[in-house]
Amino acid sequence: MDTNSESTILIVDDHKETQESLIKILQKEGYTVLAAESGEIALDIIRKRPVQVVVTDLRMPGMSGIDLLRACKAIAPEIEIVLISGYGTIETAVEAMKEGAYDFVAKPFKKIMLTKTIKKALEKQSLAAENRYLKEQIKDLKSLGSRKQVIGTSLAMRRVLEIVSQVASSSATVLIQGESGTGKEVIANALHYYSSRADKPFVKVSCAALPETLLEAELFGHERGAFTGAIARREGRFEVANGGTLFLDEIGEMSMATQVKLLRVLQEGEFERLGSSKTIKVDVRLVAATNVDLLEAIKQKKFREDLYYRLNVITLTLPPLRDRKEDIPLLAEHFLNIYREKNHKPIKGISKEAMDILLAYSWPGNVRELENTIERAVVLARTDLITLEELPENLKRAVVSLGADPLTPEELPENLKGENLNKNYLIVPLGTPLEEIELQVIHETLRRVKGDKNLAAKLLGIASRTIYRKLGELEKMDSPSEHREENILDQT
Ligand SMILES: Nc1ncnc2c1ncn2[C@@H]1O[C@H](COP(=O)(O)OP(=O)(O)OP(=O)(O)O)[C@@H](O)[C@H]1O
Ligand SMILES: [Mg+2]
Repeated sequence: MDTNSESTILIVDDHKETQESLIKILQKEGYTVLAAESGEIALDIIRKRPVQVVVTDLRMPGMSGIDLLRACKAIAPEIEIVLISGYGTIETAVEAMKEGAYDFVAKPFKKIMLTKTIKKALEKQSLAAENRYLKEQIKDLKSLGSRKQVIGTSLAMRRVLEIVSQVASSSATVLIQGESGTGKEVIANALHYYSSRADKPFVKVSCAALPETLLEAELFGHERGAFTGAIARREGRFEVANGGTLFLDEIGEMSMATQVKLLRVLQEGEFERLGSSKTIKVDVRLVAATNVDLLEAIKQKKFREDLYYRLNVITLTLPPLRDRKEDIPLLAEHFLNIYREKNHKPIKGISKEAMDILLAYSWPGNVRELENTIERAVVLARTDLITLEELPENLKRAVVSLGADPLTPEELPENLKGENLNKNYLIVPLGTPLEEIELQVIHETLRRVKGDKNLAAKLLGIASRTIYRKLGELEKMDSPSEHREENILDQT
């Protein structure tokens, strides 16, 4: 039982007696037990302490168990959640399982049921952690040499990578969707190199690059004289990829006629070269990518529905970079390493200001645009640090500036003349309570204006006494009557 103390369980229940009995049961098992009487308090604990499993009541005043589950999955997806459901909430509990709860225990529960469930949840938790670690290792190994490494620790990318490792060993067709530059080709590569086909060929064909006949010839091969220009017999890419993976990029651009032929290969695993009647059988794993919405293309009769369902056995959707900003520092570092080597420049890193811009920008060109930006910055850099100087103007301009009502240069006090206050950014992690963000912005603004509360208030577009109040310094200033007046205003 000794090792149980390394696992922390958080109990969330507004009902004092249930909470106490749960604490007793779990402490007896040797776990480190924390308790909260509301979802709000629970979230606060989760932000501050490592918790492995949350046991929460479903029905609570304020945040419900489901709300807590969702918030938890958003800020700490590795935590397993066990729900306690009373009479009449079983259906909700089942619903919650679909949203990622580990399990639920119905009230009144037997002690043994609860402890068993928690033990299993913990096992899953540690297995998942180990899995993540092993995957990291495999990723490192696989990335040796010319193979491209997949960078990303955001929840979205971890989900993608999890699916990649789950399906890599099968031969199922995979459809990769995502905006341009999100890394579809990188993932197609990973699918191949994580699979048992890794030592067989990985062949890429871009469906957008070739006109119809040439694309078909490219895919299926042709006999001599099969069409004008076919001066010799040629193996198609399907044959070349035999035993390995064929990556069909921009599949949305494929003509309807070619789609019919592709469908047949998917259904029967066979085809003929152009100008030949001999049937060829191949064992090829197909990975397709698209940045157009295929369902929309189906509606417009540009894409065959039956082919879509054949391709769409497993779908991986790569989120745009703006939706996974946590990956930006890692990716930036990764590209910095690559282009530093390439350009023989001893660059140590990226300045905080420059990184803040990279984090705030919306990256319409996704990872590719980030890569190009870093490459350019490395080439331009004259010191051992990438600073705002090396970032393109358009990127800096596109970033929203801090402050509701920026001052004109004339309005700036003497000691701040020449500083551009609109160039400073504050980055906060998702899930940070708004109140905390507000405080951080106030503190940061104050720091930038060297403590001038009136100026800070002006920049933030609020009254200076609001700043004092937010900073908890209200008592120190103004008359009590004014104080009261403001409180009344606040409540409206
Ligand atoms: N997760 C990632 N880790 C490392 N590099 C990445 C990652 N995602 C993308 N890249 C890099 O960004 C660039 C663009 O990626 P990729 O070519 O895979 O995008 P794509 O989705 O296929 O784009 P398009 O739709 O324009 O073809 C490549 O140089 C790739 O190496
Ligand atoms: Mg691509």
